[in-house]
Amino acid sequence: MGSSFLASKSTNITWHEGAVSRADRERVLGQKGATVWLTGLSGSGKSTVAVAAESVLIARGRAAYVLDGDNVRHGLNKNLGFSPEDRSENIRRIGEVAKLFTDSGILCFSSFISPYRADRDAIREMMDDGDFIEVHVDATVETCESRDVKGLYKKARAGEISDFTGISAPYEAPENAEIVVDTNGQTVEESVQTVIDYLEANGYVPPAD
Ligand code: ADX
Repeated sequence: MGSSFLASKSTNITWHEGAVSRADRERVLGQKGATVWLTGLSGSGKSTVAVAAESVLIARGRAAYVLDGDNVRHGLNKNLGFSPEDRSENIRRIGEVAKLFTDSGILCFSSFISPYRADRDAIREMMDDGDFIEVHVDATVETCESRDVKGLYKKARAGEISDFTGISAPYEAPENAEIVVDTNGQTVEESVQTVIDYLEANGYVPPAD
């Protein structure tokens, strides 16, 4: 599904370097920018974990920001649906946005189902080593369906929503995610701590005081 990682239509464009480097920005912020890419089924807990991790980091004086599937589809990606092609384009655009956030020195939490491995791998490829941290928010369809926070599984089972991930559309789990959080059994706090521990252990943020 990586085919929408497009050739450029623009010509006569020149990359313009700024006077401030990423290292300068990261020094000011006291952290290393990165994209923390959460992938998993609808209702697996991606947004919950992302929002809670963002709060923990902000409370520590770190810079973090959440890009969320439902929210981004209200604006930037409002012209995209849930066909394989539209999901790929959704993820391609978000990848570009996350890359900009990463370059700004921010820890960017991206919370999208992002069901296709090739689309996620394409984003990993376009980022520098260490800038893309894939988090598999792992919950079974049964778990997500029993939560059914938005009532969408019920609608999908009733045939009112087509191409619903896990029911009538595929989800390709990561094979080599940097982090796996099992939200079938873990609390939100445990999942968040796993993410924060990784960021500390790998030098993205300093340890808590
Ligand atoms: S993605 O597959 O392109 O990565 P994204 O994360 O942006 O999806 O949006 C998923 C959200 O859209 C779900 O959490 C759910 O609220 C809503 N949604 C509506 N229709 C569908 C569908 N057919 N499949 C999955 N999610 C859907």
